[in-house]
Amino acid sequence: MRLILVGPPGAGKGTQAVHLAAHFGIPHISTGDIFRANIKGGTDLGKLAKSYLDSGNLVPDSVTNEMIKDRLSHGDTASGFLLDGYPRNVEQAEFLAEVLLKNLTPLDAVLELSIPNEEIIKRLSGRRVCRNCGATSHVIFDKSKVDGVCDNCGGELYQREDDKEEVVANRLNVYKDQTEPIIDFYDKHGLLRVISAVGDVSEISTNAIAALK
Ligand code: AP5
Repeated sequence: MRLILVGPPGAGKGTQAVHLAAHFGIPHISTGDIFRANIKGGTDLGKLAKSYLDSGNLVPDSVTNEMIKDRLSHGDTASGFLLDGYPRNVEQAEFLAEVLLKNLTPLDAVLELSIPNEEIIKRLSGRRVCRNCGATSHVIFDKSKVDGVCDNCGGELYQREDDKEEVVANRLNVYKDQTEPIIDFYDKHGLLRVISAVGDVSEISTNAIAALK
């Protein structure tokens, strides 16, 4: 299964990706997670990416495309992959199409998670992320057992810099202007499936798997 998850910030791509990757036995590749790991590690890539993530703008395509090309050359993608957060504009989608054509590994599907803006704001303002393992929780919808402590590893939970109100507004604009056009791009290629991202996490996973069959 070679799959792309697309949807606005806070649609639940990361949350669903964990379930779908386990179900299909494929690696979950999140460009946002790769950038955040590099920022945490203080690498050159992290230093370059930080200002873009903090402001909610896209990291330049030249950087992101090469990073994904390299990641897709790793052996664990032989059985497939789930891309979360990439591609994010038509240029990236065209670049990916060329890489996959060269590798003779065409996409199987693009799953869009559809969600209204009011729900996005509620999700992003309450999201907490573990500093240690990166697991995501929510102060209302998916509360950790102990406030501020990750259920998964006991690490400290924090609020992402780009989940602050003014940055969220920019991320939504960037999604509308730059990312939404890829939905049409994949629809024209006959790859698009759309499901609602509102409801229980497990119910959405079940619908996602059914849509991909
Ligand atoms: P990235 O990390 O990809 O952020 P995003 O696309 O904005 O997506 P999010 O991680 O915010 O949301 P999500 O859809 O994964 O939702 P989640 O599952 O966490 O990108 C960050 C930045 O990196 C970009 O702004 C850009 O700068 C850079 N970048 C990344 N990729 C790039 C690229 N290709 N090109 C250039 N730059 C790039 O869920 C959200 C919350 O809701 C959580 O708290 C969760 O617990 C809760 N929740 C989830 N599902 C439900 C549900 N069903 N009901 C109730 N609550 C739920």
